[in-house]
Amino acid sequence: MRIQDFKIADVKRMADERNRLIHTFGALAELGEEVSNKQSFQETMRTSLHLLLGSLAIMRGGVARYSPFAHELSMLAMRGFRDDFPLTLSLCQEDERQFLANGLYPIEVSQAKVLPFFQVYDHSFEQSGLELFVPLVVHEEPVGAVFLGQKATGEPYTSYDREIICAMARHIGVAILQRNMMAELERRAEENRKLYENLRMTYNDTVKAFAAAIDRKDKYTEGHSVRVGKYSEIIAEELGWKEQEVEGAAVAGYLHDIGKITVERKIINAPYRINAKESSELNKHPGVGYEILMPISHPYSDVPLAAKYHHERLDGHGYPDGLYDREIPYIAKIVNLADSFDAMTTDRPYKRRRPANEVFADLQRNSGKQFAPEIVQAFFKGMYNELTGVSNEKRFRRLLGREYMETEGIIPMLKNAMNGIAPTSNLTFLH
Ligand SMILES: [Fe+2]
Ligand SMILES: [Fe+2]
Repeated sequence: MRIQDFKIADVKRMADERNRLIHTFGALAELGEEVSNKQSFQETMRTSLHLLLGSLAIMRGGVARYSPFAHELSMLAMRGFRDDFPLTLSLCQEDERQFLANGLYPIEVSQAKVLPFFQVYDHSFEQSGLELFVPLVVHEEPVGAVFLGQKATGEPYTSYDREIICAMARHIGVAILQRNMMAELERRAEENRKLYENLRMTYNDTVKAFAAAIDRKDKYTEGHSVRVGKYSEIIAEELGWKEQEVEGAAVAGYLHDIGKITVERKIINAPYRINAKESSELNKHPGVGYEILMPISHPYSDVPLAAKYHHERLDGHGYPDGLYDREIPYIAKIVNLADSFDAMTTDRPYKRRRPANEVFADLQRNSGKQFAPEIVQAFFKGMYNELTGVSNEKRFRRLLGREYMETEGIIPMLKNAMNGIAPTSNLTFLH
């Protein structure tokens, strides 16, 4: 064909088609952008329907989402339909099978009356002037449907129109599928969160029950494990640890003496200073505790280590392994301080609790020898803040008793001890 054989009408038709193509691509791109937007799902569906209707100048239409459990289509967005158009539409198995087989292609409503779905809703569809019904099938899964009325021009839909509808419906279907997957993920995450929360509560309750059981064995130091748990928690908080880590420190404190359940009651409860043999028996409790705790899966990894090393000292004179400063797990250093502090501030069978000034002086003197200085400092800070009213909590008051916390001159004594602690251990680089 020569160029002069083209008629003006042909050129105009080609230009029209090109414009339509550009317009369609524009609408598709806009729809793609729309469905990937993070705004509300309802809003996305309304805008998608608007774009689909607008791109082909269709008067009325609707988008529905399919629920495979209820076998129902629920309308998400509608335009131009009568008010009595059903908001939910039921499908029977036959409808579902046919829609799945049909895929995303538009179904002519007037020609589909053999299907129960179109028989049941015949009246509503006719009243609203429904012409096309597009099942939204994505990855062989029905996710929804698009309902379309007639075009503004009154002309029938061309095959070209149907292709555009198909492409746009796919976008909408994918958006619904994504939303469904997201909702499912959120549901599972919520379920997991609840399960985890339940497990954590059960674990923490079990830990507390264990602590109470350990403490019952020792009639003179009633409540020791529980207090060590609480002091360890305070220290971790003062050190600025995260919530989960603080919880871990408390657990480590609660369980630190769990190994004592295998030590004879008469040794634990001896109303005198125990002899060397008894002492070596008692000193097995950290190792036993570790063995008891190790096979359990703890949400906090250091719990067994805290039991094993809570009697180690920075200077290597502790037990069971005589570890030095840096070799001792940090959590064990925290529990060690909490443990020693409780031992000093509670009555024992062979000695009374020591007064505050002595205890402060002891902790200060042994910073860098037995205790990690920054841990003592954090502990003192917690107490200082409570004494001076910087913190409204009454944690120390509850653990030590009001009288003890109201010892005359306790604030200057504590301040003095705090100022007397060297910032770092002189043993840090030893060994
Ligand atoms: Fe112990
Ligand atoms: Fe202890």
